[in-house]
Amino acid sequence: MPLRFQAERPLFVDREEQVRELRELADSGQPHLVLLYGRRRVGKTFLLEHAWQARPLFYFLAADVTAALNRAELLRELATFTGRQLDPADYPTWRTIVRLFAELAADRPLIVVLDEVQYLMGRDDDLASQIAAVWDREVRGRSLVLCLSGSQVSLMEHLLSGGQPLYGRHSWVERLQPFDYRDAARMVPWYELRQQALAYGIFGGTPRYLTAIQPDEPLDAAVQRTTLSPRGEIHLQVQHVIEQERGIRAVGEYRAILAATPRGRTVREIASLTGVEVTMARKALDMLDELGYTWRERNFDAPRNAEWQHWIADNALAFYYRFVHPNRSRLEVAPASEVWTHRVLPLLDGYMGKRFELMVAQAFRRYHDDWGLPPSQTWSRWEGVDRNRRPVEIDIVARLDDGRILTGSIKWSSSPVGPSLDASLRRDLDDLSRSGQTWARQALEPGSSAGHLYVSSGGFTPELTELAAADDAVRLLSLQDLYPPNLTPR
Ligand SMILES: Nc1ncnc2c1ncn2[C@@H]1O[C@H](COP(=O)(O)OP(=O)(O)OP(=O)(O)O)[C@@H](O)[C@H]1O
Ligand SMILES: [Mg+2]
Repeated sequence: MPLRFQAERPLFVDREEQVRELRELADSGQPHLVLLYGRRRVGKTFLLEHAWQARPLFYFLAADVTAALNRAELLRELATFTGRQLDPADYPTWRTIVRLFAELAADRPLIVVLDEVQYLMGRDDDLASQIAAVWDREVRGRSLVLCLSGSQVSLMEHLLSGGQPLYGRHSWVERLQPFDYRDAARMVPWYELRQQALAYGIFGGTPRYLTAIQPDEPLDAAVQRTTLSPRGEIHLQVQHVIEQERGIRAVGEYRAILAATPRGRTVREIASLTGVEVTMARKALDMLDELGYTWRERNFDAPRNAEWQHWIADNALAFYYRFVHPNRSRLEVAPASEVWTHRVLPLLDGYMGKRFELMVAQAFRRYHDDWGLPPSQTWSRWEGVDRNRRPVEIDIVARLDDGRILTGSIKWSSSPVGPSLDASLRRDLDDLSRSGQTWARQALEPGSSAGHLYVSSGGFTPELTELAAADDAVRLLSLQDLYPPNLTPR
């Protein structure tokens, strides 16, 4: 199969908007306080280096040591950067150092990045209060960008809250997110579409994990080497992801909760599977949701007190807890290839089903205009029984901005799907409508229905294609439609 895209990984993927805005700030001639945060390995440092290349940039990576040691180290590096003699005795506090930045920016623009800034906060000499003390009066009119970057999401968000010293003083803030499925594919342009989708389903959108895949390396080999192998880079990073969140003390409980959620469970099920108390599990899931590691869903139009189903959101974590963690003993004694062949491959399509549903939700956000549909207010699914207690599952139930209901099916399959897909969705909707579900009735009535969306990774039979051509309400989306070659900005 011919490659659809360039076969080389681009040096820099996505983040165009952030790069443009960061450059504008640096070139404005005015002082700006900038905050950039996000999970480990999501690409913060890479973004800053790329955005401000060819501009005078002083970069300091803080360490988990005392304030005095961090300051001494910073001054040593700043001395090299400026060619000036800087004696630590002259700069005994962060306040004096921020003043020094302002002084250096007096006759020429300067960008200062303080990375892993959590190590400089809340200790004997708190950086945030010291910046606040100097910022309003002493940097006025100077071309100084001071960027605080960090991977402690909760701490960075705390910095921005009301009552904190930096509150209201920043000109720009961004919580950097992992790539969605479409940008993730740009990191592995040498694969066919199905493999690009699998790569996202297994590695997720964390740039560092995607760069672990070697150019032209077969996907199964890459998964075995980086993720299944107990010495693999992603294996080790994902295993310790929870420890790296400083706000989390009960690491064991959090791990147990993740191990219980790759399939989608209620908090009660999680509690009984793990032995963690319900209140503690609830608290942990709130925190994990906040960090983007898990997410929750429930039926479209569910009553307010309906229980949520919790899932792992990040694909690398989902894959790890679905396939690596349960096979860890085997992986110690058997080659990764054996576990891949016997314990992963036979279950991989089943695993991809849910991951593919998430990709379709992302695709809808990106491409709904191209598909002639407005954005969605709510995007969910419905699972339950009809009035004859027949189990029904509908993969897409969404209310669009114009109030119409969009319904549909999502199939991660390797062979084309036929018209039965359409027939069974209509039958389900009809049954549910008779069972009193208002939205199901709306999904069938021409005035209130936005039609039916069928997404299949294995394509469609000629019969279904013909049916769709004759019926405006039916839209078919194949992998090619989810990966249009020309990237339209989000
Ligand atoms: N936009 C991007 N395009 C291509 N590759 C990227 C991009 N962002 C990050 N990467 C890759 O991911 C790696 C990790 O990114 P980076 O070191 O910037 O993450 P980070 O958020 O600073 O992580 P940490 O919190 O561990 O410091 C980079 O070295 C680079 O190889
Ligand atoms: Mg970094």
